[in-house]
Amino acid sequence: MAKQEDQFKKVVSHAKEYGYVFQSSEIYDGLSAVYDYAQNGVELKKNIREYWWKSMVQMNDNIVGLDASIFMHPTTWKASGHVDAFNDPLIDNKDSKKRYRADVLIEDYVGKLEAKIEKEVAKAQKRFGDSFDRAQFIATNPRVLGYQEKGAAILKRMGQSLEKEDLADVKALIEELGIACPLSGSKNWTEVKQFNLMFGTKLGASADTAMDLYLRPETAQGIFVNFLNVQKTGRMKIPFGIAQTGKAFRNEIVARQFIFRMREFEQMEMQFFVRPGTQKEWYEQWKETRLKWHLSLGMGRDSYRFHDHDKLAHYADAAADIEFKFPFGFKELEGIHSRTDFDLKAHEEHSGKKLQYFDPELGESYVPYVVETSIGLDRMFLAVFSNSLEEEALENGTTRTVLKLPAVLAPTKAAIFPLVKKDGLPEVARKIVDDLKLDFNVIYDEKDAVGKRYRRQDAAGTPFCITVDHDSLNDHCVTIRHRDTMEQKRVSIADLKGIIHQEVSISSWLNKM
Ligand code: GAP
Repeated sequence: MAKQEDQFKKVVSHAKEYGYVFQSSEIYDGLSAVYDYAQNGVELKKNIREYWWKSMVQMNDNIVGLDASIFMHPTTWKASGHVDAFNDPLIDNKDSKKRYRADVLIEDYVGKLEAKIEKEVAKAQKRFGDSFDRAQFIATNPRVLGYQEKGAAILKRMGQSLEKEDLADVKALIEELGIACPLSGSKNWTEVKQFNLMFGTKLGASADTAMDLYLRPETAQGIFVNFLNVQKTGRMKIPFGIAQTGKAFRNEIVARQFIFRMREFEQMEMQFFVRPGTQKEWYEQWKETRLKWHLSLGMGRDSYRFHDHDKLAHYADAAADIEFKFPFGFKELEGIHSRTDFDLKAHEEHSGKKLQYFDPELGESYVPYVVETSIGLDRMFLAVFSNSLEEEALENGTTRTVLKLPAVLAPTKAAIFPLVKKDGLPEVARKIVDDLKLDFNVIYDEKDAVGKRYRRQDAAGTPFCITVDHDSLNDHCVTIRHRDTMEQKRVSIADLKGIIHQEVSISSWLNKM
């Protein structure tokens, strides 16, 4: 646990030191759970967004994009159920006066059971060595099975109680499990209450005529209210999808874990409209497609797992999370939801406008069903960033800090160095920068010894360093060094563009899907 916390602290401080993420309004001591993306962070975020957008919109001829407003008519949120049901169950500790999400306290308890399972696995691995079969051990060891059963039973009971709005049982569960306030150790809890997560604001100049608005808590509703506009103007035939990226806002109570849970964050969502009765197949298909997208980035199958929901949101008939192994354990990265016709029907009822599709093959009109994929851009950023940060032991006994970002997402693709700041080498290096900069984000660096410059770029996540030396003046070749292997090769300046393109282009990475 302490090791995980140390690793997470390193992630947060590295993100600041290398210009990825800053605390918002830091000079005023910051604003809780609100963050700013700095010079490198903004590039990484843009690259993740683009990687998602291309895989959704450009690679699928039946998915189109949309950019709806953050402000929406307030009835939208009544229809979607957010006014009445977008709540978190809260509990206060009477001694520490700290407020918690009751479900998170219980999930953290289950997380500790999972940590115990991992401990058992590690012990057994040590005992059995090479002959150890992890899957078999997990499936048969009585202690591991006991922890698994206990965790599953707790989550099931919590899910059912939340579903039935039986908040007294959620409190009873916390007490039965002996969960204490993480801050004070006290078990003196209040009742569990519901708290709405939407931020309110006002539209209009005078107090008496101003209209109450909400900052959108999800981007999806902008897609639903535009469903028919897009379908008609784009002449879309079911099945088809509408994709959107944009800001969403939630007044989160548990505001910790850096950019994992923020009050202002960005979502990348796609609503896929299907014929009623076919939603199950599409739900399974999108689960598989989205996992493939994640795997294409090369962060390893073991970093992901599916978690099927026991407690379904008010709009869903099936839902699963793709969870990622963050430094603080497996947590939700993306949700795939079969949202039925809940939203479109609700908007029909509240607006009095029909939101139906005429299916020419069936010769009838219906309200389509929807399968949604929804991923937090900031959470994806944290997944990629934390997974990439390594302290690597080198053969010469030293260590290096290296940020092994997938090259396709790296903010800067190449750093170009003159070996020395004289003899015409800077001019050749600058010419290379000029030749590459229209195609790739590249930088020039002449400060310090080359070894130090390599380390700086390793830690910043730059996949290539290109060094111009005295021989370059005659042979028109340079040394290209790969960040991950530290391998160096002599290549022609004329070939640089092709070499870099092969390694960083979205097409070569998405082709792995
Ligand atoms: N439209 C469905 C929807 O919003 P959700 O599971 O509430 O579903 C989808 O959110 C994704 O948005 C999550 O999987 C997560 O990646 C991201 N997300 C949700 N709340 C977040 C927060 N407070 N901070 C950062 N990301 C968040």
